[in-house]
Amino acid sequence: MAQLPISREKALEILKSYNPEEFDMVHYLESEAVMREVAKLLGEDEDYFGMLGLLHDIDWTMTKSDVSTHLTKAPEILKRLGFEDDFIETILSHGYGFEELPHLKDKERTKKVEYALASSETITGLVYAYALMRGKKVSDMEAKGLKKKFKDKAFAAGCRRDVISEIEKTGLTLDQLFEAAIRGVTGIKEEIDLS
Ligand SMILES: [Fe+2]
Repeated sequence: MAQLPISREKALEILKSYNPEEFDMVHYLESEAVMREVAKLLGEDEDYFGMLGLLHDIDWTMTKSDVSTHLTKAPEILKRLGFEDDFIETILSHGYGFEELPHLKDKERTKKVEYALASSETITGLVYAYALMRGKKVSDMEAKGLKKKFKDKAFAAGCRRDVISEIEKTGLTLDQLFEAAIRGVTGIKEEIDLS
């Protein structure tokens, strides 16, 4: 995998400079943590996968007032920071197929790293909602319980199960993703005010 043009510290500094909602910042950190765990399982570069997770919604704060423009500003921002085209395209790929994003809705994910990012960033919503339901506790969460929530379509209904299931296209199982997601989020629990 290609080298990263900026450090994690710099990436965090940039994200924070856009004044994200705390809830959004939590989502970025969780996505990073889950991507690092998924990278380990796939034998991929943890820093590269982690950076994809951390920055995947880099233009969210400035585009969320008009969701249809989400990911239209990301390429320019990332390019300016020195990221290569591959990295930028992977970031965009997590929006492929979404009706809400006219510029990306007709594209399809085809690469392992794309499936990994889309499923990892999406499962964070499920883990976080489940943790809140459990009194903000994640450290003793079990994959079995998370799987039940995954199957319960009414729970965190906006959390796209079909996208989470794309993890299977990387060769990993859903159970492996559930475990990786819990491990990842548990690893940063203090930072995101969980226990
Ligand atoms: Fe996201």
